[in-house]
Amino acid sequence: MPSRREFFLHRKHAIVTGGSKGIGFALASELVNKGCHVTIIARNVNDLKNASGKLQELADSRGQNQKIAWKSLDMTAPYEIIKEAFDNAAKELGPIDILINNAGHSVQAPFCDLPITDFENQMKINYLSAVHATRAVVDEMKQRQTGHISFVSSAAGQFAIFGYSAYSPTKFALRGFADTLHMELLPFKVNVGVLYPPNTDTEGFKVEIETMPEETRLMSESAGLFTPEYVAQQHISDIESGNYSTTIGLDGWMLGNLTAGACPEKSLARGLVQVCFAGLFRAITLVYLGYFNGITKKCQKRRFKLEKEKASSKSD
Ligand SMILES: NC(=O)c1ccc[n+]([C@@H]2O[C@H](COP(=O)([O-])OP(=O)(O)OC[C@H]3O[C@@H](n4cnc5c(N)ncnc54)[C@H](OP(=O)(O)O)[C@@H]3O)[C@@H](O)[C@H]2O)c1
Repeated sequence: MPSRREFFLHRKHAIVTGGSKGIGFALASELVNKGCHVTIIARNVNDLKNASGKLQELADSRGQNQKIAWKSLDMTAPYEIIKEAFDNAAKELGPIDILINNAGHSVQAPFCDLPITDFENQMKINYLSAVHATRAVVDEMKQRQTGHISFVSSAAGQFAIFGYSAYSPTKFALRGFADTLHMELLPFKVNVGVLYPPNTDTEGFKVEIETMPEETRLMSESAGLFTPEYVAQQHISDIESGNYSTTIGLDGWMLGNLTAGACPEKSLARGLVQVCFAGLFRAITLVYLGYFNGITKKCQKRRFKLEKEKASSKSD
């Protein structure tokens, strides 16, 4: 097992993509609480000004001369634009020690109802934006032999359910990328981590609920709802301890152990739980899968019946 390297956050420069709202803002706040200088990135300038104002207030209340900056940047822009923005951020607040790839969103609908362009767009914002941001910072981290890079995946990046055919693969892709990167960066003392948030009470999630197919809503209801602050605290604590995966809640913990597969593990205790309970967790997941398949069949049956009734009332 690779040895677990603790990561000290005090006076480090952290960049959080999608840091103006939701989980990203909560992560940025927690990093300020730990003594970091923070740059947040998003597109909407008003949201950025508002969020950075709040972060600066929090920083000032700590009295340690922490700096906050923001950049309006579309993370789906070409690599050269991303690189330039990150280089400028480093000039303003110092070399980038921590990158949190959080910007993203989900679209959900049955596969055949999704415009084909959604598949490319989801990949661009949820996956490729993280690849570009990582490439923009990693050389300097390797040279300096220090740094941390996080990827905000999703519980849907561990367990793909109805309606997520465009979203889930992008979050699974992050995990594959992070697994590789973790191994490549080990000799350079650069840490990598993955956060798997479950349903989290953010603006993004509210939009998601409005457009959720009935099946997805019924399935995700079983997962509960967490606050962005709680999710952020768990992840920042794992960054500090040098852990690779952050899962949230009991279901998340079980799913994390079940899907650990060949992913990196630095904690002996966590590794032992995965080895001992893999079979039990697989059995529990099979029960969930059976329940979810039942929901899919029931909803389709009901829709089919309704369509039949409509067709017969038209022909009458
Ligand atoms: N909330 C959940 O239940 C949940 C569950 C699992 C995983 N996640 C993941 O967690 C991350 C954050 O989700 P959230 O719920 O906190 O979302 P949110 O409330 O919608 O916030 C998204 C943030 O990303 C920024 N953003 C979106 N598109 C961008 C782009 N093209 N370029 C730059 N910034 C962009 C947004 O600002 P602008 O719009 O101004 O750009 C905003 O700051 C996402 O990757 C999401 O997939 C969320």
